[in-house]
Amino acid sequence: MSNDFPTETPAVVTCGLPYANGDLHIGHLRGYIGADAFNRALETLGQQSAYVCGSDMHGTPVAVNAEQEGVDPEDFALEWHEQYEETFPQFNVEFDNYGHTHDETNTELTQDIVRTLDEEGYIYEKEIQVAYDPEADQYLPDRYVEGTCPYCGAKARGDECDEGCQRHLEPGEVEDPTSTITGNPAEYRDRTHKFFEVSEFADYLTEFLDGLEGTSNARNQPRQWIEDGLQDWCITRDMDWGIDYPETDSDGESDLVLYVWVDAPIEYISSTKQYSERVGTEEYDWEQVWRDDGEIVHVIGRDIIQHHTIFWPAMLEGAGYTAPRGVAATGFITINGKGLSTSRNRAIWAKEYLEEGFHPDLLRYYLTTTGGLQQDVDFSWDAFQEKVNGELVGTVGNFWYRSLLFAYRNYEGTPEADVSEAVRERIEGAIGDVRESVNDYSTRGVGQAAVQLAQFGNEYIQRNEPWKLTDENPEEAAQVIRDCVQIAKAVGVLLEPIVPDKAQGLWEQLGEEGEIADAHLEDALEAPPRTFDEPGELFAKIEDDRVAELNEKLEARVEAASDDGDADEETESDDTAADESTSMADTDDLEPLLEDRIGFKDFQDLDIRVGRIEDAEGIEGADDLARLEVDIGFETRQVVAGIKQLHDLEELPGQKCVLLANMEPAELFGVESNGMILAAGDEADLLTTHDDAAIGEKIR
Ligand code: MF3
Ligand code: ZN
Repeated sequence: MSNDFPTETPAVVTCGLPYANGDLHIGHLRGYIGADAFNRALETLGQQSAYVCGSDMHGTPVAVNAEQEGVDPEDFALEWHEQYEETFPQFNVEFDNYGHTHDETNTELTQDIVRTLDEEGYIYEKEIQVAYDPEADQYLPDRYVEGTCPYCGAKARGDECDEGCQRHLEPGEVEDPTSTITGNPAEYRDRTHKFFEVSEFADYLTEFLDGLEGTSNARNQPRQWIEDGLQDWCITRDMDWGIDYPETDSDGESDLVLYVWVDAPIEYISSTKQYSERVGTEEYDWEQVWRDDGEIVHVIGRDIIQHHTIFWPAMLEGAGYTAPRGVAATGFITINGKGLSTSRNRAIWAKEYLEEGFHPDLLRYYLTTTGGLQQDVDFSWDAFQEKVNGELVGTVGNFWYRSLLFAYRNYEGTPEADVSEAVRERIEGAIGDVRESVNDYSTRGVGQAAVQLAQFGNEYIQRNEPWKLTDENPEEAAQVIRDCVQIAKAVGVLLEPIVPDKAQGLWEQLGEEGEIADAHLEDALEAPPRTFDEPGELFAKIEDDRVAELNEKLEARVEAASDDGDADEETESDDTAADESTSMADTDDLEPLLEDRIGFKDFQDLDIRVGRIEDAEGIEGADDLARLEVDIGFETRQVVAGIKQLHDLEELPGQKCVLLANMEPAELFGVESNGMILAAGDEADLLTTHDDAAIGEKIR
């Protein structure tokens, strides 16, 4: 594509604003770190870009929590805001500007945009029924009511089906509403509210989505909503906390505030504006970005796709602002395979992670490369340890240290020689992969390109054995080490977006000046300084007993939370019915249902067969993996499955199973896997058939 990053025009990367209402956890960090890595990667491509965000101060998510604590929502929100401002840099999340939605810039800009939408004829008044709690004597916007989602039947909050289909719900839509203040059924009262004519934008949005980049979930889900018919959007609420609906010529002061979802995304613009005002418009012009031809990329959670692909672009278009170029929607985070739940304390908290003394770059690496931006990511301390020890310590750290130490001891730095042609080409290949990954919105691809280059470096040393060459053939030894030092530097430049602090460490060890964050991809091919000091190791192994300790802590914490939690929410099936053959999982523990439907053709594309396990053995060096031989009628397949710990391997031969036969081959620990055994749940309960389906029969 001709318009690939880096582009001539400046970019802005934003991340969904955190509600200023509670502690940050791994679910938040995933987004902020992912977007930070993406923005840094854009910059290494030579793209001019700003990364902006701010705290989401308004709305019932803040008001309800402040009320529970008995404090003023403004004080409450500001306190959290200040905490977030301090926390993000501790994870090397470096915003160019971090504002908040209640500041002057955003208040003014929001009112200005709403006024424009009004002038353009996109806003009208309508009388609607609004939930009201007679006992508390107040209206019940959004999170002040709970009920049933009219679309999917899940339990829903007033304005979002947060446990079900993730749809935005309009006032009055939730069925059987009860007040969250008193628990009483809500009454309905007539009120006049302002509506934004989203329905007018159906054609515009269809076209917008055709050109939208980002993750596939963000590009596809909204098409369905448009097909189902767009509703206009109620943009005011009966509340005190928020930005006042602006005075328009006729009707004077309004006692309504704007719905939080109006002023929150506008903070993306306000925050960019503040950045621009700080550095000067010569350096970065917010108006060029937002009113002309900037490249706008939103990184968000997948629960707010509708807001960013329907309401927000309609607002931007209606008020004469630039449309986003890309929307990347992240998946969910699970902890040990179960849903993250703050009420159950099944979460990894930002503070906790730092207090445990782990370097932020380790978590950054885990979160950005495990699932990339879009995929769901499961976090467990075991998987964290495996990834850190294997990829960062074993591959990257090991290569960096070996190469630099050898260079230091024998040459006091970078040997005098030119990088060999083959190595130069290999580095250029990795640079190309990074460029492609960024254009695919894949942070995982960026990380992989760098780690594979380090892997190549390790093999290169192993193959050339420079320690033997120093005496036998000093010139060749110098060549090999020269190549390795260059590969080490290149890995640093490529990996900087993901592990900025560690990469800076390497930069300094190489004797480079300034910041590796300012380096561009081409610098990966520039020679490092001639001399440098003795290097140190940049990554350290996470020991098994640390992991055991962390697992215990987490378990104890989740247990303690369920001991003092509400009885109705805490019926954890897994600790009661462990010995039953069929147990019901609490839906909180289940992976949420996917909303994207697939066609029958997609299903037919899966070639699923009845098989029989012929042989099973553990794979050496891999804690969880087993190598299986599975007979599927036509042939016997070798398959790698993560069931070593979960099944008695000796018992498996002879058992029937179900195999996805046309899975792409993959190599795990050097063993090729040619299919996927289907299993359910944490214990890898193997799927099978129960009657006389023959081996090789297709499942349909
Ligand atoms: N605070 C919202 C949430 O956590 C996200 C707001 S994103 C923005 O769901 F687009 F409104 F900025
Ligand atoms: Zn729903």
